[in-house]
Amino acid sequence: MSFRDLGFRRDPFDTMPLEASASGKALLVDREREIKRLKNNLYETSLAPTLEGANGIGKTSLINVALYEISTEHKEASGPAFILCPFRFQVTPETKVDDFLDDMYREVAIALISQKQSAPIPPGYTRENISDLLEDFISNPMIKSLSVGIAQLGGGGLTNAPNTSQAFERNGFRSLVRGYLRKIFRDSEAGAVICVLDNLEILGTSENAKRVFETLRDSIFNIPGIRWVCSGAQGVIRGLWRSGRMNGYFCKPILVGEIQQENAHFLYEKRVDAYKVNDNASLPITMSQFQSLFDIFRGNTRFTLTDASVFCNWCFEQYDAIDEIPDDAFDRWLGDELNNMYGDVYPYLSKSEKAFFEKALQWELIVSSEFLDFGLSSERELIEAAEKFVRLDLLYLNKEDKGTSSSEVYEISPAAYKFQYFIDSQHSEGEEAL
Ligand SMILES: Nc1ncnc2c1ncn2[C@@H]1O[C@H](COP(=O)(O)OP(=O)(O)O)[C@@H](O)[C@H]1O
Ligand SMILES: [Mg+2]
Repeated sequence: MSFRDLGFRRDPFDTMPLEASASGKALLVDREREIKRLKNNLYETSLAPTLEGANGIGKTSLINVALYEISTEHKEASGPAFILCPFRFQVTPETKVDDFLDDMYREVAIALISQKQSAPIPPGYTRENISDLLEDFISNPMIKSLSVGIAQLGGGGLTNAPNTSQAFERNGFRSLVRGYLRKIFRDSEAGAVICVLDNLEILGTSENAKRVFETLRDSIFNIPGIRWVCSGAQGVIRGLWRSGRMNGYFCKPILVGEIQQENAHFLYEKRVDAYKVNDNASLPITMSQFQSLFDIFRGNTRFTLTDASVFCNWCFEQYDAIDEIPDDAFDRWLGDELNNMYGDVYPYLSKSEKAFFEKALQWELIVSSEFLDFGLSSERELIEAAEKFVRLDLLYLNKEDKGTSSSEVYEISPAAYKFQYFIDSQHSEGEEAL
């Protein structure tokens, strides 16, 4: 058995972010509010919109769909023209700012060139005169070498930087791109190329990370004709916002929470609809089982989809036909999964570690100075307990700036909910045995 045998084009529970396309938009559930805010931020300010939310909750997807909407809503020559840069920028504490800038200028140039037929027209231009400008831009030898690369790769995805080995070439390239941007976007209301700086939590909180980010801040957020959307998890965006480090650069963070529970079924239905090739298509996982996963993971979409896919693939290995799948298959699979993941860990947790974790789950936020509330005798003891769960990916250290406090702050990771479900099932099994 396979998804294709069952009447689907592919695995409907694939966990790639939704694309900035009509098909991405068709799969999106909820998020009207967040998308509206993101769009308002772009249309009505010149700051960088920001999003904060747990890993797997749906930030990248909603950014993609919002940007797709923005780029398709444009009416010729009225209102700002936003051109999407499909490249997803990331930054680590080791990122060299010049490398980042090389990526940025190259990818912005590629976005401008590769969307020449379809890009929205900035105010004050018609398709004809913007084409002339673009031809002019493309005919520059530095840009030409990029265009050749794009053509060879069939559009987009260019990995080789233009030959920037010499500083003057690099500077020449950058000022060429900046000059063209200034020409087509005459002022900040005319629009911009929109770039996404995603997964900012990778940056971490080291001094080095702060330095990298501050240098980047000064060199990327003020370029006329380029707008940034920034997104991160683990409190990193909230931290930057509160620390004042991004004053005058960032919009107030859009907090991305779970999809509403009553809309979970749309996640399933929309994917089934989008990927089935005939009306007889059926899946090993039922809607209500999918909803159970959604509940276990408290609405984390990536974790829900991942496990839906894992369960289906498990069925493909175990059974030859969909009608051979017994009713209790899902429960058995889930039990085995949890046992494989946590069966070895759980018995070796001490009583106080278990108590600590249960409390952590209730509170969702663990501040090391509040060790007494956790029944522990010192801050150090709490940090040791917490670090153990960090190593198991069940907690993570919150990267939010702590201000003057020296406490560590931990948060629950989405996997912790699965662990909790396991603990609960151990308890109820224990009760049954009594
Ligand atoms: N609103 C949504 N509607 C449907 N699917 C979603 C939605 N948000 C996220 N997903 C799916 O959940 C998974 C995780 O989303 P993603 O955007 O990558 O999360 P994040 O960027 O916050 O880590 C992806 O497979 C994506 O397709
Ligand atoms: Mg993401």
